[in-house]
Amino acid sequence: MKKTITGFSKFSKQEKIDWIVNTFFDDSKVAKETLSQYWNSNQVLQDLHDDFIENTISNFYLPYGVAPNFVINNREYAVPMVVEESSVVAAASLVAKFWSTRGGFKATVLSTTKIGQVHFMFDGGVEELKDYFETTKSSLIAATDSITKNMRTRGGGILDIELRNKTSELDNYFQLHVTFETKDSMGANFINSCLEAIADEFRRDDIQIVMSILSNYVPDCVVRAEVSCPVEKLYQENAVMYAQKFKQAVDIANVEPHRAVTHNKGIMNGIDAVVLATGNDFRAIESGAHAYALKSGSYKSLTNCEIENGIFKFWIEIPLALGTVGGLTGIHPLAKLSLEMLGNPSAKELMEIIAVAGLAQNFAALRALTTTGIQHGHMKMHLSNIIKQLDASEEEKTYLLNYFENKQVSHSAVVATYEKMKKK
Ligand code: MEV
Repeated sequence: MKKTITGFSKFSKQEKIDWIVNTFFDDSKVAKETLSQYWNSNQVLQDLHDDFIENTISNFYLPYGVAPNFVINNREYAVPMVVEESSVVAAASLVAKFWSTRGGFKATVLSTTKIGQVHFMFDGGVEELKDYFETTKSSLIAATDSITKNMRTRGGGILDIELRNKTSELDNYFQLHVTFETKDSMGANFINSCLEAIADEFRRDDIQIVMSILSNYVPDCVVRAEVSCPVEKLYQENAVMYAQKFKQAVDIANVEPHRAVTHNKGIMNGIDAVVLATGNDFRAIESGAHAYALKSGSYKSLTNCEIENGIFKFWIEIPLALGTVGGLTGIHPLAKLSLEMLGNPSAKELMEIIAVAGLAQNFAALRALTTTGIQHGHMKMHLSNIIKQLDASEEEKTYLLNYFENKQVSHSAVVATYEKMKKK
């Protein structure tokens, strides 16, 4: 049977579903039922979701959780998180509570500049190109006037346009490197529209525009978040040794890329969850963060740790191009709700909150890794998930939790213990 098709996007939703289930599934009825189980009975909401992308045939739900008790710059927050990994929200909540009694998190936005580039080829004289750029620069900015008008009233717009000679890296390759301030919007559409208007203005017979696009590498749109406290307040026992081990774990991630990637993945567990909950673009955030981790030429930790004069300090510095207006933030009802839960923050405040979520997650991971090991917490969650599937009573649940306190958890071991207990 043919498994390719033309004109699929023109099909009605029902036709699309029929074709998919009949073409790719042994049991089309079951496939159809699974898809329809996730439709929203509220047609207005379903239509909204249908229109986010092309060819929508169902909705893919992820859990929406909340990590309360975050204190950031002396303000209290409950942080919404969308994530499927079982330990992320629990870890964020524990760490939020922990630091709330130790002065909370401090966060500051260091910079907010975004970048876009017009990439072009030119095989004439460099001096001639420079002259042409200097004489047209003001008209390049003027060409974007109608696009930047609103943004300028909000204090944003184009900051500068620079001609960059990249011919030492690629023959005939030049760029217009454009910097932007986009205030509370992430600014992707704004930046791309400006770049296209600039490219149109810059076009000449001997200038071959290749493409115009924003960059998701934003090393000048950076936020720093930090926690600190006396070492003895960090752990109940052997605080100095454990604080040292914690710092060593960060130091290792700073010199060993294999570890750094996993270390930063843990940070992104927290970051992406809030980015998603607030309707922001997690792919943009991911690419920017990992590129930043590589800014020195070798891939390093996004967090750092210092122990000086008995004070433990742990911080993150990360680029976060976020918006609190525009895009999905205003359209998706849950993204709107998340922003309201956070007190309708500005983009800068949201940068601070999200950097904190990343720092908290990394703190939780390193604390677990350097003490009990990561599986202890994971297995506890795994154990409660298995117990839930067993339909165990409260008494049976307590028995199983106690029984597995110091034992290896596996699905078969839990089921076997449960059955044995039932027989007794
Ligand atoms: C798992 O999702 C994240 C961790 O691997 C992060 C880390 O190792 O630091 C626990």
